[in-house]
Amino acid sequence: MSDVFRSYAEVEEIGSGSEAAATVEDAMEKGRLLFQADDGCQTCHKRDGSGQIGPDIRGKSKASIVAAMESRRDMVNWQSDRQLTSEEISYISQWLTAQR
Ligand code: HEC
Repeated sequence: MSDVFRSYAEVEEIGSGSEAAATVEDAMEKGRLLFQADDGCQTCHKRDGSGQIGPDIRGKSKASIVAAMESRRDMVNWQSDRQLTSEEISYISQWLTAQR
């Protein structure tokens, strides 16, 4: 897969978001694409997760990332445009947990 930063709609079209990941590398790449999508998490947390409007979230535990997605107001409101599936949240947290 390439480095281009797609919108969530495009990510979904290429099947990256909704199709099951076959391997760990596959899941990580899906997570990266979703996080770095033009209208994704990076709008507030930057492409590397180091933070801008939102805090630095590199290397956070999977549980705290999932909890933030499901309960923090900023993230819940933002997802009203594009509700993430639990698989997608899992891919994103796998990728994010590995960032330094
Ligand atoms: C509209 C801006 C915005 C977007 C988009 C956004 N966030 Fe956040 N995020 C915030 C802000 C602001 C906070 C800190 C305040 C809070 O926790 O509610 C935060 C907090 C977090 C935290 C909690 C950090 C902690 O200390 O526990 C995590 C994890 C997180 N974001 C992950 C994500 C992920 C993953 C995405 C994309 C799926 C995302 N965010 C999209 C603004 C955003």
